[in-house]
Amino acid sequence: MTEKEVLDFIFRRRSVRKFTGEPVPREKLEALLRAAMAAPSARNRQPWEFLVITEREKIREVCSAHPYAKFGVEAGAVILPLGRPAGNFYFFQDMAAAVENLLLAAANLGLGATWCGMDENRNKILRPLLGIPEDYWIFALIPVGIPAEHPAPRTQYDPRKVHWEKFGNRGA
Ligand SMILES: Cc1cc2nc3c(=O)[nH]c(=O)nc-3n(C[C@H](O)[C@H](O)[C@H](O)COP(=O)(O)O)c2cc1C
Repeated sequence: MTEKEVLDFIFRRRSVRKFTGEPVPREKLEALLRAAMAAPSARNRQPWEFLVITEREKIREVCSAHPYAKFGVEAGAVILPLGRPAGNFYFFQDMAAAVENLLLAAANLGLGATWCGMDENRNKILRPLLGIPEDYWIFALIPVGIPAEHPAPRTQYDPRKVHWEKFGNRGA
């Protein structure tokens, strides 16, 4: 891949919220998890685990329990990255790196996915639904599926957000 192709590829990762309803082949799901687990993590602690759901009824149940993931009921799978944050200051940063890797891999495989955020309340609802112990934090809910929409690639580059050499210096 050329440098430009790699950048263009990163721009192609977009949130996909419409799916055909078809299942996602197991080897593709495994490829996503391989990408996620290739992420950098502080002291290489790799605090992540992943709950993968492919059963239609369970997908429906999990996505319906999240206020902004209802679109996911038509997804072919839901991946929930999770782990134990206690005593690990870098837990959330490590988890975010893994999720971004997973999303990039999904785009590469022609799959659609969206990172749906998890908070305390959503954790309280989803943990018992999925039999997840209380010391685990579900970091994200990611519906994954065969895309039925194709949002345009884009960067959101904004020069006003860049400080060159010195804070406040926006000049090139
Ligand atoms: C931490 C986080 C939480 C998010 N939560 C949701 C969510 O609950 N539901 C949803 O539809 N999208 C969610 N998104 C996706 C964002 O809306 C999306 O990334 C943003 O609008 C930019 O669009 P893009 O992903 O297509 O570039 C979340 C993204 C992040 C990083």
